[in-house]
Amino acid sequence: MLILKSANLADADAEYAFMSALPADENGFTNPWHGTPRGEFEQIALRDMIAWSKGELLPPGYVPETFYFLWDDDRIVGQFRLRHHLCDALREGAGHVGYAIAADCRGRGYGTAGLRLLLREARAIVPEEEIYLRVNRNNPASLRVMLKCGGAIHHQDEEKTYVRIPNMKNTLDAILSRRSYRGKYLPAPVPREHLTQIMQAGYAAPSGCNKQTTSFVAVDDPALLAKLHAVIDPPIGTTAPAMICVLTRRIIAYRDRCYSVQDYSAAIENMLLAIEALGYASCWIEGHITDEDRIGRKMADILGVPQDMDMVCFLPVGVAAESIKGPVKKPFEQRAFFNGYFGE
Ligand SMILES: Cc1cc2nc3c(=O)[nH]c(=O)nc-3n(C[C@H](O)[C@H](O)[C@H](O)COP(=O)(O)O)c2cc1C
Repeated sequence: MLILKSANLADADAEYAFMSALPADENGFTNPWHGTPRGEFEQIALRDMIAWSKGELLPPGYVPETFYFLWDDDRIVGQFRLRHHLCDALREGAGHVGYAIAADCRGRGYGTAGLRLLLREARAIVPEEEIYLRVNRNNPASLRVMLKCGGAIHHQDEEKTYVRIPNMKNTLDAILSRRSYRGKYLPAPVPREHLTQIMQAGYAAPSGCNKQTTSFVAVDDPALLAKLHAVIDPPIGTTAPAMICVLTRRIIAYRDRCYSVQDYSAAIENMLLAIEALGYASCWIEGHITDEDRIGRKMADILGVPQDMDMVCFLPVGVAAESIKGPVKKPFEQRAFFNGYFGE
């Protein structure tokens, strides 16, 4: 599993091993604690890293900065730094982000994976609408990482390329940027807190006559995920570290009217938007599990869902490992009008 973990005293041995191997300056990524002996690592290097993340003990001109280590299971493979906001010098210079990957771990996708995880963290910390990054022009591999993570080149000077990546901030951003994702996911866990927030978004959706026909089950147990995926044919979303299962009960709202389809659709869209806003990817998977092969019923049985409830959809949840591209849509003008319908 890949985890981005902020600098902390409990992991001092592994953090020291990583930092002591990192040069004082490599491609513009500076290590002010290079050469700090092991005996002073906690008191000097870790003290600074932890204090700076809280905005304490900052050298003049510095802004608060969180130091994260990228762990692949029990090994640190990289360091990612996030400056909490811009100042004039950062706006013109290094921007929000710095990162370095251990020399023997390069070329294995850790830069892209770590940057994707860092951008997820940035949504909750950085107030600016764009994340600013800078890379040496003689470092095309690092530029590729930034572009793969949604970056666009803003400008260049003789030595550096300056890149910007959108940092989502409001509901409209989430609505406009959401796309269905069917690619691979990073092996990075989705915290329970986020799965709860996503289900709360579903729970908050409207329902016809307030019949509240929709229920949710979040699955993050790898053994249970494997059991569920064993009945999903053809496979989809198999590498996602979590999924949200959407259940419905056909409760009559009034006379013969049942709004359960509208209810669960509203809940699903709310959850897709929460997933997007939290920096994860997903896809509304309904057609796939509600055909004659009744995959949804098989999944429901595995989860102990009563027979009078249907499992109508599942949403894989995780950080996308690949770029997200949606299908082409008809031009806006062919589907939306003012004061009358003027389409075909
Ligand atoms: C009711 C419904 C059922 C869907 N079922 C599936 C599905 O079973 N498998 C799948 O890959 N995508 C499914 N999708 C996702 C659509 O294919 C997708 O939303 C559409 O192609 C538009 O792309 P976008 O979501 O990126 O805007 C479903 C979407 C809806 C609304």
